Amino acid sequence: MASGKQAAGERYLVTGGAGFIGSSFVRALRRRHPRASVTVLDKLTYAGNPANLSEFEGTPGYAFVRGDICDAAVVERLFAGGFDWVLNFAAETHVDRSIGDPGQFVMTDMYGVYTLLEAARRHPVRRFVQISTDEVYGEVLGDPAGEEAPLLPRNPYAASKAGGDRLAYSYFATYGLPVVITRCCNNYGPYQYPEKLIPLFATNAIAGERLPVYGSGRNRRDWIHVDDHCSALLALLEAPGVEGQVFNVGADNEKDVLEIAALVLGALEKPATLVAHVVDRPGHDRRYAVDWGRLREATGWRPAVPFEEGIRATVRWYQEHEDWWRPLKSGEFLEFYKRNYKFLDARPEPGEGPAT
Ligand code: NAD
Ligand code: DAU
Repeated sequence: MASGKQAAGERYLVTGGAGFIGSSFVRALRRRHPRASVTVLDKLTYAGNPANLSEFEGTPGYAFVRGDICDAAVVERLFAGGFDWVLNFAAETHVDRSIGDPGQFVMTDMYGVYTLLEAARRHPVRRFVQISTDEVYGEVLGDPAGEEAPLLPRNPYAASKAGGDRLAYSYFATYGLPVVITRCCNNYGPYQYPEKLIPLFATNAIAGERLPVYGSGRNRRDWIHVDDHCSALLALLEAPGVEGQVFNVGADNEKDVLEIAALVLGALEKPATLVAHVVDRPGHDRRYAVDWGRLREATGWRPAVPFEEGIRATVRWYQEHEDWWRPLKSGEFLEFYKRNYKFLDARPEPGEGPAT
């Protein structure tokens, strides 16, 4: 049985570490193992932000490499230096963008996983954690999905992630690579790119802009604070004998979009009239829900952040960090926003002038 015990000075590769969850994970890892060496490999797509990691620049044991996980030469050079623990967060992650243009999702979320797995086959690691997602189950309308539930992804993002998830498993079954796969529910917290529901609603509401609700607003997700996701990953790294297994990560905290809108507006004391229904997302999954009993049994882990507290703290973070998100909501983001959302009424945004 392989041990997950970690010692000082061990070497971690965190791909996608400049993104939302990856950067939170680097923070959690440095707290838990201050003497570990941490290499971040990140392409810095629109979603990757060096500012998320600025506190580590120049600190001992930390290295940032700008590069693409699909680039076999870059990946090979890094793995040749040796890693003990690899966590692959790098991905294209936004469902709406995958509907508009699936190609890069297929590349990064499938081919990029292949490139990393091949390098790990040539340069053995102690554990390779593939960060998958609960979206691989497709919409779940009955009991929460256990890890053995069929994978029925319904949008190009989810399908590409399912490909990466199963490819990682195949390297365990075929080559004995020490792979662990996680499927987490919807994360929220600081440093989340403002295209995702909670930071979009928080930043729009702060700016006095409308909160675009797809369709009925009754679609449900299980919401977990990003710190809880990261503590689950740290617990799994330390768990013995989990190679080849899949672990759901959940928080038993289901909310629909209208409930989230009300919580965000309430935290900011903004009016409910900011809620605006927009044309629904195609193939919009009505609900995700996972049974995460396997993770609890293997590690004793439980989520620690109460949702309403977590949401209030998160909204406060966006209020206090306008310098972080204001520059992101410009240029390409605004073009995407205009392309993506079809408002069902003709109310103008502040500054847009009268509706025609
Ligand atoms: P994110 O979009 O905030 O960050 C993704 C990061 O990956 C960015 O820094 C980006 O620059 C980098 N990246 C993208 N393509 C790359 C490539 N080809 N090579 C190297 N780096 C690349 O995403 P996130 O929300 O932090 O998600 C991280 C991981 O967790 C993803 O694998 C995602 O599928 C998974 N996940 C996310 C959630 C969620 O709710 N956000 C839930 C479950 C699983
Ligand atoms: O479940 C895990 C997944 O959660 C991750 O794998 C994905 O990377 C992550 O993006 C997230 O996917 P979702 O599609 O669930 O998240 P998103 O924030 O885009 O949407 C959450 C819900 O809110 C969903 O029902 C769609 C709805 N929504 C979203 C946006 C951005 C709206 O009604 N309006 C919006 O503007």
